[in-house]
Amino acid sequence: MAVEKVRSGIPGLDNLMDGGFNKNSVNIIIGAAGTGKTTAVFQFLRKGLEEGSEGIYITLDETKDQLIREAINLGWEGIQDYVDSERLIFMEATGSDFLDFIENELPDLIGNWEGSTDARIAIDPLTPVIWAVKEIYRQREILSSLFKLTRKIGHVVGTLEEHNTFGTLTGSESIIPMYLADSVIYLSYIGLGFSLNRMLRVIKCRSSWHSEATNPYNIIPGSGIVIHAIEGSGKKVSDIPEDVNAYMDQELLSLPLEARNRIREAVHHMNNTDIGIFNYKELIRLLIDEYK
Ligand SMILES: Nc1ncnc2c1ncn2[C@@H]1O[C@H](COP(=O)(O)OP(=O)(O)OP(=O)(O)O)[C@@H](O)[C@H]1O
Ligand SMILES: [Mg+2]
Repeated sequence: MAVEKVRSGIPGLDNLMDGGFNKNSVNIIIGAAGTGKTTAVFQFLRKGLEEGSEGIYITLDETKDQLIREAINLGWEGIQDYVDSERLIFMEATGSDFLDFIENELPDLIGNWEGSTDARIAIDPLTPVIWAVKEIYRQREILSSLFKLTRKIGHVVGTLEEHNTFGTLTGSESIIPMYLADSVIYLSYIGLGFSLNRMLRVIKCRSSWHSEATNPYNIIPGSGIVIHAIEGSGKKVSDIPEDVNAYMDQELLSLPLEARNRIREAVHHMNNTDIGIFNYKELIRLLIDEYK
């Protein structure tokens, strides 16, 4: 069965991830300074609040007042109402306080949680948590426990600052959270020209199809990050042309029934986007050769 999804709140992103984030999953947004990580977090939380669930914003960097001001400047005037009614909760921490929070306070907080299991939790940025611990195995332990606890009550987004060489995503503070997360979204800019120089790419999404395309996006006040999906980047339904079907029927005749069924099933999953550099006939030929 297909994995259940929740809308990300970022226009254009859900189409690149087969409907959005996986339910009760941990999603990482990684990008350099100013790529729009905090903006994406606002969009994610706002979507949940509009749908009636709760939002928790764990901030390790900016203060609650600063963040509320930024959200308002970006066109989210109604944010204060959610804060006043306590549907949106801010938790301010520094990296080292945060360790204590994860190990001592968070388990109680989750244990006593009376809200939905549909809450949205944002940790922005996650990077200082990793710096607060020296040993790599401890970093993994802390993050793993943070993710396990938070996903119990909802859907999680954590942001990571990209500190390493542009585009390689190998900074030591990024590796562990990227492995542990269910999905990773990479925001970057190439700095060429005047517009459309920001780029978004889905690096991984567990148990789900996702686009492999790199798509331009803009940050638009009132809307936030909006992705301009390049042609063919959304999920395609199977669109095998007639002549390919006829070719397959002909070629499969020489194979035993089991192999024929196996190949038909594989071809059923194919679409123009996913086959990448292959063409259908070439790919079918290679599959058939596996059974010769
Ligand atoms: N009120 C606004 N009007 C127009 N553009 C804005 C506004 N607020 C933010 N932006 C755009 O969004 C960009 C960065 O947004 P954001 O704070 O989400 O990035 P970030 O990735 O969280 O950065 P950092 O790593 O510094 O936390 C700004 O550099 C600016 O281009
Ligand atoms: Mg930020």
